[in-house]
Amino acid sequence: MHKDVERILFTEEEIALRISQLGEQITQDYKSKVNSENPLLAVGILRGATIFFSDLVRKIDLPVEFNFISMSSYGNESVSTGKVQIREDLGFNIHNREVLIIEDIIDSGNSISALKENFRKMNPSDVKLCAMLNKPARRVTEVEIDYCGFDTPDEFLVGYGLDFAQRYRNLPYVGVLKKSVYS
Ligand code: IMP
Ligand code: MG
Repeated sequence: MHKDVERILFTEEEIALRISQLGEQITQDYKSKVNSENPLLAVGILRGATIFFSDLVRKIDLPVEFNFISMSSYGNESVSTGKVQIREDLGFNIHNREVLIIEDIIDSGNSISALKENFRKMNPSDVKLCAMLNKPARRVTEVEIDYCGFDTPDEFLVGYGLDFAQRYRNLPYVGVLKKSVYS
């Protein structure tokens, strides 16, 4: 275990199993809605969701197109600033598409609800959300998570894509960061 990690919450094996289950569920739910002319549009949120994204899409047995967007609200802090930035110009079209947003963790819910609202204005067929982790104790803005990996306690987590000041993303597990690292 990394010296800055207090304890492991979800091991590599537990995450892999859960991702297989989510992939199966998504495959079942979308098999009548997408096809090779109209692939599922998976939209990953940079940078935290990249590892979860790449594991999940390989468990979806349907035509899938990839896109990525960035949103930032944290800077180098461990608490959200509440100011969410989304680039207006997506660089891809979601009109009439089956959109599945893939995110690392839903915390306050501010970023993702702003994004969902932006997306809805662009008239997709549907927008759903898949999040690896959910921290319900910290919710400020209500969000519906259609596919959720795990609920987590109210602690600062790193690994499996999650960072603190851009570090620890490559840890193969999700762990609790020692408070001494950020306080
Ligand atoms: P929200 O707008 O507060 O829901 O912010 C969600 C974003 O904050 C996620 O996409 C993560 O990038 C980041 N975040 C929230 N909680 C954690 C955490 O425990 N560790 C690392 N990043 C986090
Ligand atoms: Mg993020």
